[in-house]
Amino acid sequence: MDLNTLKQTAARRAVEDVEDGMVVGLGTGSTAAFAVSALAERVRLGLRVVGIPTSERTARQAEAEGIGLGTLAEYPRVDLTIDGADEVALGELALIKGLGGALLREKIVAAASERLIIIVDATKLVERLGSHGPLPVEVAPFGWQATARALERLGGQANLRAQEGQAFLTDGGHYILDCRFGPIARPAELEAAIDRIPGVVESGLFVGMASAVIVADEGGIEVLTP
Ligand code: 5RP
Repeated sequence: MDLNTLKQTAARRAVEDVEDGMVVGLGTGSTAAFAVSALAERVRLGLRVVGIPTSERTARQAEAEGIGLGTLAEYPRVDLTIDGADEVALGELALIKGLGGALLREKIVAAASERLIIIVDATKLVERLGSHGPLPVEVAPFGWQATARALERLGGQANLRAQEGQAFLTDGGHYILDCRFGPIARPAELEAAIDRIPGVVESGLFVGMASAVIVADEGGIEVLTP
């Protein structure tokens, strides 16, 4: 089975939890995009939902596929958000998110949600966060070099994310510093320390937020809960 089939399998399973009348947070990334498509299929069959997108990209996809959208101003309470992740720590189910660049809106929508269902293929599971890749940290463009130095004092090697020779800009107009910390022993402590740095808008550490993680691998689906 290829990775896309696994992502789609996890996405379809998560969308089964959506009920008529729900306000649904729509995540960002290739796995979340499968969930948007699976939800749109159900909408075409008569399911009524309001989608709260976590990025401009997801908003465009959802609109194109026929899902009605709302905002947190109109719907401050989100019933269920379905989103992907870059790494999931076994056990407490802390997450790294943000390689897709949408971590700020993703965290705001997740925090406003009754339930956050994370959908991944099994390659995303790790013993310790930071084992596979960097931790994305969204920062203000002003003085980003000073913010990077402060992140390096916490032990992370910070690289400004670039796209086509320019600094990558998030939907909120911020930069992203991809920080290599190596395996992270205490994610909650690191998240708090990062949040205290002036210039940091949000980190891609999502600790204590996932209600469930749906993992797809060759053997089928497993639902992990914290
Ligand atoms: C975007 C994210 C994504 O959920 C994360 O990067 C996973 O993406 P994909 O499903 O494409 O692997 O956090 O900001």
